[in-house]
Amino acid sequence: MLQRWSSSTNRKQILMDIIMNKMKASVKSRKISLKRKENTIMSSQKKKPCFNQIKEELPKENIYHTFKDPGEIYSFRASLLSWYDKNKRELPWRRMAMSESNLNKRAYAVWVSEIMLQQTQVATVIDYYNKWMLRWSNLQDLAKATLEEVNQMWSGLGYYSRGKRLHEGAQKISSEFKGEMPRSAEELQKLLPGVGRYTAAAIASIAFGEVIGVVDGNVIRVLCRTKAIGADCTSPTVTEALWMLANTLVDLVRPGDFNQAMMELGATVCTPKAPLCTECPVQTHCRAYQQVINEREMVSKRLLGNTTSQISSTPDIEECGDGGNCPLCLPEKEPWVSGLGVMNFPRKPTKKPPRIEHTLTCVVTRRRDNDDTEEYFLVQRPNSGLLAGMWEFPSVLLETEVKEKKQKCIIFDRLTELMGNLVTDTHLQNIGEVIHIFSHIHQTYLVYSNSFSDASGDTVMQEDREQPCFRWVSEAEFYQSAVPTSMKKVFRLFKHSSVNEKQLAKGDKLQCGSEKHEGKQKGRKRRAPKEVQGRQLSINSFFQPAAIKPL
Ligand code: ADE
Repeated sequence: MLQRWSSSTNRKQILMDIIMNKMKASVKSRKISLKRKENTIMSSQKKKPCFNQIKEELPKENIYHTFKDPGEIYSFRASLLSWYDKNKRELPWRRMAMSESNLNKRAYAVWVSEIMLQQTQVATVIDYYNKWMLRWSNLQDLAKATLEEVNQMWSGLGYYSRGKRLHEGAQKISSEFKGEMPRSAEELQKLLPGVGRYTAAAIASIAFGEVIGVVDGNVIRVLCRTKAIGADCTSPTVTEALWMLANTLVDLVRPGDFNQAMMELGATVCTPKAPLCTECPVQTHCRAYQQVINEREMVSKRLLGNTTSQISSTPDIEECGDGGNCPLCLPEKEPWVSGLGVMNFPRKPTKKPPRIEHTLTCVVTRRRDNDDTEEYFLVQRPNSGLLAGMWEFPSVLLETEVKEKKQKCIIFDRLTELMGNLVTDTHLQNIGEVIHIFSHIHQTYLVYSNSFSDASGDTVMQEDREQPCFRWVSEAEFYQSAVPTSMKKVFRLFKHSSVNEKQLAKGDKLQCGSEKHEGKQKGRKRRAPKEVQGRQLSINSFFQPAAIKPL
């Protein structure tokens, strides 16, 4: 017995030695190739070490979740890059990064694209990007723009602080660094507002050829599946492991293309749902896929009545070798789910539900004397916080549930504060509700309208501003202004309700959409147009948690 134990221990020891030697060899060969690469890389690039640059040590504890031999790494890189060369999407920022020889312009072009691509789909970004680059083709031009113009350009993209920070960054580079973009990921992250670890690494690798990996949502998915990392992918341990994997894998000659290829793979093949594993260029490297194959084999053995081997419905995850203690494996409490396949990875903690908020908002209108054009009253939000500097209809966030009568009083007070004594509460009309989902807020706008026969002047300034914080705009100007999507939805509801009002006055039938809202007029329920509402909440649903359905 003792003999058997010791011989198995010896075998384990020998195996460990072999593995350790292989790892050392891999590290050594990588160091050599890095040196070679350093000697040949673009002469324009500074040769100083950059932060987090390729960490050479592989974790000691196990090799299941890492890349163990150089051959595997080279093969992964080659397969991925060759797939990328054949399949990459033609995107305007890629064209710019390829064709622009001026490094500052190239970095600026990549920077703009990376900021726009945060939390926004490629298809949505393309148009915004093209318009942006036509207007501000370099960072000096952007630095000269006003925040108002930036917000206007950003209108509809969401997460407006991104545009604001980009603008601030351009002003900083222009004034403090004579327009010279920082040349390394470390400096980019240190000096540019809104540029974190990912964005800095993306700009540095794509624009300057710095050998540094990137980890964004798409890369997290690709790496977690490739290396069967099933622990919470937002945890610090997994995050560090992923950055280390990305830095180990990144191609030494084409780091920018490699990083974009990883993202492209995640966006088009290794997708969150219905991944296309049969089309994956790195399928043979994928441990999640291997587990799917294991599972299939076990199921077919079971179907064939093979009872000699131990058969379970979970695939063999023994290879990790950490006996259930691995900080990167699927947690024991939430093991492999049969039928999910590779989608068992990555695992995220359950999301915190969004905050439920209700805001009163009022579309105030007036007719211009000379040509009878209808105009709308807009107020500018403060220069910091949510939707900083954007324009909106006068609005008040409700702190508690209040009845319609009280809602009208609150709006009346707000309008009086903004517009002086021109307001009368008798014109206030409830016209319905609009729901808008911000990243962390489920916002319900309770929409009112108020029309003026004459509201020419007498508007009040906010104390902390030099510029007036209000303005009257025509419909066309409204759409050209820096107004957030939520307010465009409010405006659409308003336009729809006034069309219905006119039809009612003429005795026509109401236009009907699919969902009802609370606005009542002449005893009839109003209908909101489909495009205005994801769904409508009744007043009674105030402050009740709502099922979230983004528009
Ligand atoms: N997502 C963010 N940056 C990207 C890029 N450069 N290519 C593809 N997807 C991306």
